[in-house]
Amino acid sequence: MNRVPIHEAREKPVAKVVADYEGSATDRDRTSKVLIRAVDLWKSYRMGTQTIHALRNLSFQVEENEYVAIMGPSGSGKSTLMNVIGCLDTPTRGQYFLHEKRVSSMDDDELAQVRNQEIGFVFQTFNLLARASAYQNIELPLLYSRLPRSQRRARTREILAQVELEERANHRPNELSGGQRQRVAIGRALVNRPSILLADEPTGNLDSRTGREILNLFDTLHRKGNTILLVTHDPDVGDRADRVIELLDGKITRDEKLRFRGGPV
Ligand SMILES: Nc1ncnc2c1ncn2[C@@H]1O[C@H](COP(=O)(O)OP(=O)(O)OP(=O)(O)O)[C@@H](O)[C@H]1O
Ligand SMILES: [Mg+2]
Repeated sequence: MNRVPIHEAREKPVAKVVADYEGSATDRDRTSKVLIRAVDLWKSYRMGTQTIHALRNLSFQVEENEYVAIMGPSGSGKSTLMNVIGCLDTPTRGQYFLHEKRVSSMDDDELAQVRNQEIGFVFQTFNLLARASAYQNIELPLLYSRLPRSQRRARTREILAQVELEERANHRPNELSGGQRQRVAIGRALVNRPSILLADEPTGNLDSRTGREILNLFDTLHRKGNTILLVTHDPDVGDRADRVIELLDGKITRDEKLRFRGGPV
């Protein structure tokens, strides 16, 4: 019998899928609107003698303007996946493509550029600068760009209006409500017009009414063309997305389109 060593048997399909994909820059690929493509992603941690697989063999793609809810119990790998998608963490194995570009091939400058320009991150705990005003928190990512001051100001004002915080521009985070803080965080995530908005339990620290306000804002952003990936435990939140990906023990157990856009009205 023709025996294949286990590591080769496991490695080969990945290499083949990636090679097939990279070698097929056909017209279809060039015109497709695929924003995220994950191919056999693994993330493993070695803890003493034990290895924990936070992500196992994840393959999926997300197209422009999709609204995806990532669901699953605590410890199922949701945040790990978001961190990999947001280029805050690297997978142990597998490939991740953003705008058809392989992230592992990017140099530090390209990665910094992607993190700042392509991805907007919203966290459960807001992560705002405590001593900075709402205005300054939102403006922050623009300071890394070469945008002139007048344009930075115009852009920050525009975003403050979008998240309905014009009246609170000079308030620091501790002078804002939870929902307002999260809106500052969403504004900061949007200010560079990223291709993807990633939100990890953005309503987890909010009461249900304030949580609904934030979700309404996500709905509006989605209608305006943003691509959103949102982690949630809450099935009602999941129902607002147009696709649900469910994880269990680092594996995808469900990937379902809940509704299709672009059909006849
Ligand atoms: N730095 C780390 N070192 C070791 N194990 C880790 C590390 N980060 C995460 N894990 C493990 O990986 C698994 C997935 O963690 P992750 O934070 O992605 O879960 P989650 O689905 O976001 O959970 P929650 O809903 O509680 O936020 C867990 O079992 C966790 O203990
Ligand atoms: Mg998490």
